[in-house]
Amino acid sequence: MKGIYGLIFVFVFIISSCSESKKESTKKPPEQVKKTEPMQKTHPGKMIYMQFCLACHMENGQGVPGLYPTLVKTEWIGDKTKMIENVLKGLEGPIIVNGEPFNNVMAKLDYLGDKEIADVLTYIRSNFGNNEDAVTISEVSAVRASLTK
Ligand code: HEC
Repeated sequence: MKGIYGLIFVFVFIISSCSESKKESTKKPPEQVKKTEPMQKTHPGKMIYMQFCLACHMENGQGVPGLYPTLVKTEWIGDKTKMIENVLKGLEGPIIVNGEPFNNVMAKLDYLGDKEIADVLTYIRSNFGNNEDAVTISEVSAVRASLTK
């Protein structure tokens, strides 16, 4: 009988050491385990923002105190027409943005196409803590048409 216990012991030992070494071999080096990042689909308006607005309004739309106003939850962000007009006509002179006074110049960006303006304004309105609906191409062209009358 003793012999059998001995055999069982050896058997269990072999099995457990086998599964141990199996565990060891399935361990992958960390770089192989790391999932590849899914391709982030960049909002088309983000590219426009980076090229035409970021220099003044900064990366997260927070602006520069006293110089460039924030794009976070302002009167303009809440008013599509005002926002579109601002890009097409530019803006200068004293304004108050979220309680802070500015008296600077934003040149008009009317050389941007209707789609580019719709994209960039949609991007701003749905980022930086803003939660407003999209601006459509036809909304931009309607405002553009009203300005050239
Ligand atoms: C050269 C710097 C500059 C660039 C580039 C620029 N802005 Fe401005 N922006 C300003 C300034 C300065 C004001 C405030 C003007 C004033 O004092 O009357 C302003 C005001 C605004 C306002 C109204 C106030 C507010 O913060 O809500 C909006 C909206 C705005 N800009 C959006 C844009 C968008 C969109 C772009 C890119 C397509 C852009 N700006 C590019 C300088 C800039």
